[in-house]
Amino acid sequence: MKKTIKTGTIIIIIFIVGIQFIPTVSNKQPVKISNDFITIYDVPKGIITQLKTSCYDCHSNNTIYPWYGKLQPMNMLMSQHIVEGKDKLNLSEFGAYSDRRKKSKLKSMISQIKDDEMPLSSYTLLHWDASLTEKDKKDILIYLDKLLSSY
Ligand code: HEC
Repeated sequence: MKKTIKTGTIIIIIFIVGIQFIPTVSNKQPVKISNDFITIYDVPKGIITQLKTSCYDCHSNNTIYPWYGKLQPMNMLMSQHIVEGKDKLNLSEFGAYSDRRKKSKLKSMISQIKDDEMPLSSYTLLHWDASLTEKDKKDILIYLDKLLSSY
């Protein structure tokens, strides 16, 4: 019995060390500030902080990785979320979207926040500061509704 536990532990350690050789990916691209969500709109400071901590890591061209983000398999999982998240909504390129797309993405942001779909719960599990309180949600929603009504 003891021997099986020992072998099991060794296999797990070899596996964890082994997957560290899978190259990590970093989402850092030159950001064209002029197209960034927070540049094109006059976003209040508090909302900027919330969007940056709760949404930008997966929905922009620049992710701020936590320390474990440089370890596998976390890096792979994060990269997958980033690729998918950016494909659906890229806040770094929001200014390049057509007005029609901007409007539909604003609507989608509102519904995702309202329904507690975003930020992803798998993310807030480790990234506590990214969770939105009821007050944060209310502030962001009031602001996004205001933006939406300007289209
Ligand atoms: C951990 C990464 C992650 C974080 C953080 C995150 N998202 Fe997402 N988001 C995704 C992924 C992955 C998808 C695509 C899959 C899905 O819809 O579940 C997505 C989809 C979306 C969509 C749907 C876009 C569309 O048109 O279909 C919206 C809107 C959105 N996110 C808004 C937000 C907002 C607003 C925040 C911050 C409050 C946020 N997300 C935080 C990963 C993330």
